[in-house]
Amino acid sequence: MTTSARPFVHDGIAFGCDYNPEQWTPDVWDEDIALMREAGVDLVAVNIFGWSHLEPRPGEFDFRRLDDVIGRLHEAGIRVNLGTGTASPPAWLTRMHPDILPMAEDGTRRYPGGRQAWCPSSRPFREAALRLAERVAERYGDHPAVALWHVSNELGCHNALCHCDESAAAFRRWLRNRYGSLDPLNRAWGTAFWSQTYGDWDEIGTPRATLSSRNPAQALDFHRFSSDELLSYYRAEADVIRSRSAVSITTNFMVTAHIENLDYWSWAADMDIVANDHYLDHRLDDPNSELAFAADLSRGLAGGAPWLLMEHSTGAVNWQPLNKPKAKGEILRNSLTHVARGSDGVCFFQWRASVQGSEKFHSAMLPHAGTDTAVWREVVELGGIVDRLGEVAGSRVEAETALVFSWESWWATQNDSRPSKALGYLDQVHSAYSALHSLGLTVDIVPPGADLSSYRLAVVPGLHLVRESEAAAVTDWVADGGTALVTFYSGTVDEDDRVWTGGYTGPFREALGIHVEEFAPVEPETALHLSSGATAHLWSERSRATTAEVEASFADGPSAGHPAVTRNAWGSGSAWYLATLPSPADYRALMARLADEAGVRPPAVVHGGDGAVDIVRRRGTDASYLFVVNHGSAPIVVEAAGTELVSGALIARCAEVPAGAVRIIREEAAA
Ligand code: GAL
Repeated sequence: MTTSARPFVHDGIAFGCDYNPEQWTPDVWDEDIALMREAGVDLVAVNIFGWSHLEPRPGEFDFRRLDDVIGRLHEAGIRVNLGTGTASPPAWLTRMHPDILPMAEDGTRRYPGGRQAWCPSSRPFREAALRLAERVAERYGDHPAVALWHVSNELGCHNALCHCDESAAAFRRWLRNRYGSLDPLNRAWGTAFWSQTYGDWDEIGTPRATLSSRNPAQALDFHRFSSDELLSYYRAEADVIRSRSAVSITTNFMVTAHIENLDYWSWAADMDIVANDHYLDHRLDDPNSELAFAADLSRGLAGGAPWLLMEHSTGAVNWQPLNKPKAKGEILRNSLTHVARGSDGVCFFQWRASVQGSEKFHSAMLPHAGTDTAVWREVVELGGIVDRLGEVAGSRVEAETALVFSWESWWATQNDSRPSKALGYLDQVHSAYSALHSLGLTVDIVPPGADLSSYRLAVVPGLHLVRESEAAAVTDWVADGGTALVTFYSGTVDEDDRVWTGGYTGPFREALGIHVEEFAPVEPETALHLSSGATAHLWSERSRATTAEVEASFADGPSAGHPAVTRNAWGSGSAWYLATLPSPADYRALMARLADEAGVRPPAVVHGGDGAVDIVRRRGTDASYLFVVNHGSAPIVVEAAGTELVSGALIARCAEVPAGAVRIIREEAAA
């Protein structure tokens, strides 16, 4: 059960890594630890995948190696982020209980041989995992080296959605709890359509592969259930630890481009500190903007408090179609962007590059080529900088703009049978965020229904699933003077995936002053032109303004003549609506207008440059810290005064930030 958070206690900004010493002999451990000290590593995650070593046979435990590794790290003054070791079951366990293996939606089992091959609802798995967690917690609960508990690893990364019979039974229990009886379930799922009415709980299963499309409300509930099921698993492990150790407990989230299965808004309160893993995704148009978004979302999950970057990479990963190394300086820029956006740590996967196994071509802090490498030199340089940033720890990011983000909308948007397969929820969020990011605006990512009173501007991209109260949190705030932008496909369905009738945008409609009658999506490559001269893609709608002013309308395409951008005065604020996806430049221009109207500005004035700049202020008790990350290939000048923490230089009025460089300026007086 959730209890009050235990603070993660660390001196300054943590610098560390995942360490998998099981791969190496003790002489290598000694070299590793000496090099960790050289790089300034002070937090090391061990025992993440340790199960088959700790329990080589059922009930037979052997902690000698882990004792030794933790002991050596401790002697070297390096603290431990201790895994419970339960992330991947050992071979003997799946042999004893083959029904632990997860089942895909087509009813086929997944085999062992990879990792995380366990069903989240499996009782035999849970029992065995909790027994191991208990032994680990008993043994190391009071160990002075242990700074943090790391439950399992990236829960749900591979196994979030399981369709086995045990999962189906657990799903039914969850549904009984949610609906009480079958009538409300039948109503919520709209089972009157297509002869799907249930008369007995045992008729209900997980949404396995069907011949036609599946019941979308069932699929939505299955997502909710699957997220809750893994959260209950997390809680079970955390409870085992909590009674045996006073140290703070967390697990590593995957707030990143392609993982959608866990509603982390419902998880976050259970974490003593929010931790996130982030990997640049080179399949995206703007990986840096996605990094900034993920970091801002991690901070949002932490409720604005500092969080921990638990994993990222020094170079290529091994799981994208093409795995790119980082450019010169990119390790620093990525790491310090996370710190700028609220992380109190910089950790990598992994310490030493593997020579065997699935991840041998994944980059590491210590590459295959050894220490005479650009990566190693950059790691050591970064360690030095992180060390000088100790005073930044605990400070909080300042933002005047909020962006509403929802996993439920992600699930509902990407259900079967939607207006356009080309429409992706996260793409809409990223497009809106990128426009704000390109203007240098700092954005807090907030859940639907969040209190917006501390913001001037709110952006609501594609919030497809919305409850009345969640829409009211935006429209009432607008009435009180806020400026909001709501984008297309928002407010389409309620929490049961039931369409809000009377004109799309449902509970936003009145405040937006529009009446949307029909969606008219277009092929992704089709350009739409707006009366303002802007170009757009993907989407158009047939609507009319009721009370809103039309700022731009569609000049061509299936909705020619209909409004594309509107603005409605609502109370003492204004509610804007965007019925299409503008080009990046046009989206940026629109956001600039909104920011201007709302009085929102970047944290400092920047001159020059030819690329994106991350610019964020963290405020502490005695000083504030202005982070400036220049991703471009030309220098920029930032108006700021104080002490630059990377170089120690004093800055009177302006600092030059060379191409590709990062500057962190301590501003003594309140800025
Ligand atoms: C994470 C995982 C690590 C490693 C890494 C590679 O998903 O937690 O164990 O696999 O990705 O990028």
